[in-house]
Amino acid sequence: MERTLVLLKPDAVERRLVGRILGLYEEKGLQITALKMLKPSRELVEAHYAEHKDKPFFAELVTYLTRGMVCALIIEGENVIKTVRKINGATDPAEAEMGSIRGLFALTKNENLVHASDSPESAEREIKLWFSQG
Ligand code: CMP
Repeated sequence: MERTLVLLKPDAVERRLVGRILGLYEEKGLQITALKMLKPSRELVEAHYAEHKDKPFFAELVTYLTRGMVCALIIEGENVIKTVRKINGATDPAEAEMGSIRGLFALTKNENLVHASDSPESAEREIKLWFSQG
């Protein structure tokens, strides 16, 4: 059984899409095993996106993630990392399959609603960051 870290970013919360997005993961048969709402600190977001720190969009990305509430989830299931990334759709919503979260609800890659871990190693690192207390 695999697990992954998913974030519903501030635009998802602001647009009241949390319920619909959680429904898509659940209807697929995946299990949400942890869930919390938080306004993440700059330190947490910078650590989460450390691999992007030299990218031109890094400052904008940190401002976006820290501007409001985020819903952080742990989801478990067989092949969950690949499956959740498929449900989320391509990073660029213009490329995302219609029916995916980004295909259905997002327009631009700087506000693309969701994040999901891209490997088992990233998942364990990201779960530790977002769910370090208990
Ligand atoms: P995510 O899957 O969380 O991984 C990195 C994030 O950086 C990505 O989703 C987008 O929110 C953001 N991102 C990626 N490419 C760009 C870009 N060209 N401009 C702005 N933000 C981007």
